[in-house]
Amino acid sequence: MRMALLRCVLPACVTVLALMAGAVRAHAVPDAVPGATALSHTQSVYVSHCGGCHGIEGISGPTFVPMLRNTVGSFACTEEGRSYLVRVPGVSMSLIRDDQTLADVMNFVLITLGGASTPPSFRPYTAAEVHTWRAHPLSGPDFMSLRAHVLERSLAACAHTPGKG
Ligand code: HEC
Repeated sequence: MRMALLRCVLPACVTVLALMAGAVRAHAVPDAVPGATALSHTQSVYVSHCGGCHGIEGISGPTFVPMLRNTVGSFACTEEGRSYLVRVPGVSMSLIRDDQTLADVMNFVLITLGGASTPPSFRPYTAAEVHTWRAHPLSGPDFMSLRAHVLERSLAACAHTPGKG
């Protein structure tokens, strides 16, 4: 192999190296790239459709875009809050048109990014819920006061949920 490498001219080298790379890959996890994180389909959909604003780990920094990490689950203790999270414009009007895919992304957002803020009783979103709620996007000048009231009512309900502080 060493001799082959030393002797080869450029096009042949490329072939030899490609074959070597293939041989190495055959022993590794399929599609694994050393040093790179393997994202699930749902995670990569989140990264491309939501992560630009909310941060790839749900941390949006000091902007007007709300933090999702360890926060977003505080809305999930009421039905009103569950529907609020789907009706916000970034979700309801997302280019993710498939309801099941959007439900999967929202479940990743709540269960993984939401961390301890998400109540243990959280029921994963279904495609049917997403379908119904995204048809009624939230908007309007009083959005922030609506958000505050939805959050307040959900936090009050969370306080009565077993396992939540
Ligand atoms: C263009 C930037 C942008 C994109 C893309 C975006 N969002 Fe948002 N998101 C916002 C902003 C800004 C808000 C605050 C409400 C508003 O003003 O629309 C928000 C609110 C939210 C909320 C409610 C959180 C709270 O504390 O009120 C959730 C949940 C959410 N987004 C999830 C997502 C998901 C999931 C996606 C991808 C499908 C997404 N967003 C795409 C900017 C964005």
